[in-house]
Amino acid sequence: MSAILEVRHVVRSFGGVRAVDGASLDVAEGSITSLIGPNGAGKSTLFNVVSGFLRPDAGRVVFEGRRIERKPAHRIAQAGLVRTFQTARALTRLTVLDNLLLAAPRQPGEQLLRNVVSRGAVLRRELESRERAKELLALVRLERHADDLAGTLSGGQRKLLDVARALMAGPRLVLLDEPMAGVNPTLRVQLLEHIVALRDELGLTVLLVEHDLDVVMRASDRVVVMSNGAVIAEGTPAEVRVDPKVVDAYLGTGV
Ligand SMILES: Nc1ncnc2c1ncn2[C@@H]1O[C@H](COP(=O)(O)OP(=O)(O)O)[C@@H](O)[C@H]1O
Ligand SMILES: [Mg+2]
Repeated sequence: MSAILEVRHVVRSFGGVRAVDGASLDVAEGSITSLIGPNGAGKSTLFNVVSGFLRPDAGRVVFEGRRIERKPAHRIAQAGLVRTFQTARALTRLTVLDNLLLAAPRQPGEQLLRNVVSRGAVLRRELESRERAKELLALVRLERHADDLAGTLSGGQRKLLDVARALMAGPRLVLLDEPMAGVNPTLRVQLLEHIVALRDELGLTVLLVEHDLDVVMRASDRVVVMSNGAVIAEGTPAEVRVDPKVVDAYLGTGV
């Protein structure tokens, strides 16, 4: 299977700290790939580089055959690569539904078009967005909260709202940074099943940072392991689980 994402020799420092130190990895199209590693390994920083929230000091990132490491985040999102953050980013003073509608894809020059295109066409698109938003809310079990302010949700529910928001853009590749943190175990299993279903039904590719190794091992096609800013192992869950380098990396930090 071909790689939808290629990361090559990416370096990103903060002052003297090389948070990402020459990391390379491939994500196969249509796969669920997990990125694991001890706290501070550089996983979130790598996500920031890939999704355009940080510029790398060196290295290259290729999405669907195109270099993206110098493009801003909104352009990368338009191209079909979206991410969620480790800390939920819902707009707390908007309703849950409005948070999703804000993330709906827009055509360029929509305001201008409103004046020219029939009002019916605009309304139809708004209805489609609303339908999609409702489906995604059902997916993350938030449909009962559609009209509540996002600020009233629990921490776990806000993470789920973030996942739904990311999917609202209709991405080809979604990067999820610890989407299950703070989500109760039952819902965690359900969310995971739904992510697998999205892959199966829509061909969505998923790159996931996750601490729950049970989840990782159960859902992933491939696992990539980072430690000290570099990729130290890569393979199927079964291969990675018994890799001595991986065992060392985790034992070394007491995780
Ligand atoms: N904005 C930042 N400024 C300074 N240091 C940072 C920043 N972001 C991350 N770091 C440092 O980079 C290293 C990697 O962090 P991070 O990418 O968050 O790791 P992970 O997500 O694997 O836990 C850590 O040492 C962290 O303290
Ligand atoms: Mg992190």
